[in-house]
Amino acid sequence: MAVIALKCPEINVTVVDLNADRIAAWNGPLENLPIYEPGLSAVVMEARGRNLFFSTEINSAIDKAEMIFMAVNTPTKTEGEGAGMAADMKYIESCAKTIAEVAKTDKIVVEKSTVPIRTAERIKEILDHEGNGVHFEILSNPEFLAEGTAINDLLDTDRVLIGGDSTTSGQKAVQELVDIYAHWIAPEKILTTNVWSSELSKLASNAMLAQRISSINSLSALCEKTGADINELSKAIGMDHRIGPHFLKASVGFGGSCFQKDILNLVYLCRHYGLEEVAEYWHQVVKINDYQKNRFAQKIIDHFGGDLTGKKIAILGWAFKANTNDSRESPAIDVAAKLLRAGAVLQIYDPMVSKESIFRDIDFYWEASKINELKSRITVLDSMSKLDFSFDAAALLTEWQEFKNLDFSNQLVFDGRGILSSSFYSIGKG
Ligand code: UDX
Repeated sequence: MAVIALKCPEINVTVVDLNADRIAAWNGPLENLPIYEPGLSAVVMEARGRNLFFSTEINSAIDKAEMIFMAVNTPTKTEGEGAGMAADMKYIESCAKTIAEVAKTDKIVVEKSTVPIRTAERIKEILDHEGNGVHFEILSNPEFLAEGTAINDLLDTDRVLIGGDSTTSGQKAVQELVDIYAHWIAPEKILTTNVWSSELSKLASNAMLAQRISSINSLSALCEKTGADINELSKAIGMDHRIGPHFLKASVGFGGSCFQKDILNLVYLCRHYGLEEVAEYWHQVVKINDYQKNRFAQKIIDHFGGDLTGKKIAILGWAFKANTNDSRESPAIDVAAKLLRAGAVLQIYDPMVSKESIFRDIDFYWEASKINELKSRITVLDSMSKLDFSFDAAALLTEWQEFKNLDFSNQLVFDGRGILSSSFYSIGKG
């Protein structure tokens, strides 16, 4: 929304949220914006107060808007039908209900959140049944930006996807959204489709990207058995122009708020439509990811003979990738939890993720009776200079630039990101 405001100065963009603290932070000092994203503060600095506003006054913003982007989260359901797989639509539904209640003039409602296919139907049902008789057009406009490179991804995008109804009013709404993006995106990069293709394209794109990572990660296991080098393999495979080099970097596993959630959602959809084989095919991408995270931690445990009691392990990197403070579904969480269970004493450092977030992330794993004992074995560092280099082993889990020049020549390092050497696990000693 900040980039839309930047590129379309004549359009007023109001970002609303129920969370007053978060809105206050968006209105506060640029160095404390709620999301760390390279380039974002400069965009906010230019547009904020001009045509970009942050507010908790949801109803009044809905009332004034001609176009409403729904960008609420759609986490994996934790209970009820489809628990652990299907997307939880409660935030989308409550958002649609609020719009229905408040809107007194025709609106275009844009699905920005990643949603299961045919969600637009459900939104339309709520808007039409609970609304005040005004006309709503629903568009799908999935977001393809990746964290850490979001601003560039938005300014210089591969494509913008807009799905809408084939009716005259549907096509008119599509055109209105096309006109917004056309302020800075070349027409051939703005792709219009029907709503369902657009919704499914987002899930399918994420599934295809994650599938490449699981494919290369599965081969990393074979490399370790055979003496092949996964990075050499990845380079050789990626040089085939039909395959291409991207998303072929072996890792400790993919993380982030999207891949796992979207694939599980895809699996659930396939099952719903009776496509068991297709569901199993995609489910395997997530299973290999779990296997890889577990395999990495097990490798460290095995190195010490199956028991880490009293062993000092440094965890370098907590974010799910570099250049973000986001640690949702970060492989570091699973690795740290497994090492803790095996008795390790951890020093954890990430340049951007706060101590509170790190403790919150492992909260899920605490066993009530052991909380204090487990917590007593974790130290979160606020600076790399505080790292106690007398650790028995370090696990490199995020490819932060800051870690690339460290001298680990006399240390035992398990490299989950392939950044220290050409081998998947670079072991300097031992
Ligand atoms: C992803 C999609 O790329 C984006 O299009 C979508 O809108 C949201 O989901 P994001 O989750 O921000 O974006 O990060 P991405 O760069 O895709 O990385 C996801 C995970 O895969 C990270 O943990 C990353 O470290 C890992 N990864 C990526 C690999 O392990 N190997 C690779 O070669 C590439």
